[in-house]
Amino acid sequence: MNNTHKFLGIAVATLLAATVQAQHTEPVVTYNGEAGRIINENCVVCHREGGIGPMQFESYEQVRPWAPLIQFKVANREMPPYAYDQGIGIQDLQGDWRLQQADIDTLVAWVNQGAPLGDPDSPLLAPELGDPSEWNFVAELGAPDLVIASIPIDIPADGNDIWDNHYVPSGVTADRCIKAIQVKPRGEAKSVVHHANSSIEVFNEEGELERHSQLTEYAMGKWGELVPADVCRTLPSNSMVRWGIHMFPGGLGSIAPGTVIEDNVVEIGLWLHPLGYEKEVGYSQDLRQYSIQFERSEREVKLVIPPNGYQMTQGFHSFDHPVRIDSFQPHGHLRLVAASLEIFHPTTGEIEAISQISNWSATWHHSHLYEPDVAPLLPEGDVLVLKQWYDNTAANPNNPDPDQWVVGGSRTADEMTHAWIAVTHLDDEGYEKLLAERKEKLTRAVAGND
Ligand code: HEC
Repeated sequence: MNNTHKFLGIAVATLLAATVQAQHTEPVVTYNGEAGRIINENCVVCHREGGIGPMQFESYEQVRPWAPLIQFKVANREMPPYAYDQGIGIQDLQGDWRLQQADIDTLVAWVNQGAPLGDPDSPLLAPELGDPSEWNFVAELGAPDLVIASIPIDIPADGNDIWDNHYVPSGVTADRCIKAIQVKPRGEAKSVVHHANSSIEVFNEEGELERHSQLTEYAMGKWGELVPADVCRTLPSNSMVRWGIHMFPGGLGSIAPGTVIEDNVVEIGLWLHPLGYEKEVGYSQDLRQYSIQFERSEREVKLVIPPNGYQMTQGFHSFDHPVRIDSFQPHGHLRLVAASLEIFHPTTGEIEAISQISNWSATWHHSHLYEPDVAPLLPEGDVLVLKQWYDNTAANPNNPDPDQWVVGGSRTADEMTHAWIAVTHLDDEGYEKLLAERKEKLTRAVAGND
């Protein structure tokens, strides 16, 4: 045992003694202590003046009346809004909003003790955050390099779903690789823009537009997408962006304004790698919609959920080359309650759990981004197994009408069954190289712990 270890040993022993003592008198949790810190770090970003949360948590006076509801939402892992199951599959995600269990326990204990303020002489100040209408990646990446805006659209206060498809130029004059993307409805529009798809089209030799790839996908509550640094997701020169914006007049959820919204504009913020980046990285990544259960053209007629009943869908996809799965985002509407991604390994017969979301809600669409070191690496022939579960009973809090037959379709009242998955396309050499790099990191980590 070297000196550091000896010192650590003594420190641990002292800590243990302190914990044993503390068990007699329950540790006091206060707002000016730990409780406020947890709220400042995890909630204020949305729950503040101009933020997307319906109430503000910037001071003790603002937080105190909500303490019981905060306890309930946090204990049930409904807030922060990031439904992703603990303990199933990959847990290392980028942009993961989930609280640590210890922080949940602290907030619960604080409310049980009457949500006290604590020492009035050392007040806790709300964090200095940027403008709430700012782009989400500003802190890490600065302002976007490129903003592509849709044309303005007026949305009535109520009525049926509206779709708007139109083209705008991408504005790039050389091929570029995308580093990060966020789609942002301006101002009040965030509560009525149900989703906004954008694809890239390029002119062929006849001067006609042809689809090149999916640029990104936005659905209510989505934060953004980060592309791993070792691949190129291409935005080609002189391309056009085709918008497909789906709006729900009046809005969804508790932030719905129920009013006319004029000049609704949806913007895509793009952070780009320097020119020529595609030559530095060997492989390309794309984002695609992977159907669950039915072929796209047939989906609309086959997905049927009976009144006061349930449905479950399954889809299978494999590749004729090795791939890496970089992100996973289920998609459905008001009756979708759970989704999962598994991988079937035909050589061993095993099924591996990758991601599961048992408490899915249509107001929060997250693209779950796997940390690069744990993103699933699939040899040719491995099978993605996608599952989604629908609840059309009154027990589903999002269900507007359990007595309706619900079928596949694009309206908010219809259902969909697919997932958005970002895939890096590899060859055998790239696959072996990534596997070897991971193995080496693991060996080094184990050696480092010795
Ligand atoms: C990404 C933004 C965001 C973050 C982060 C966030 N909230 Fe919320 N919160 C919302 C929105 C939007 C709503 C209203 C819509 C909904 O319920 O989904 C809400 C609703 C709530 C409600 C009221 C629910 C109701 O039934 O009226 C409580 C309580 C709450 N949040 C607490 C918290 C706490 C505590 C945290 C941090 C631990 C937190 N929120 C983090 C956006 C956020």
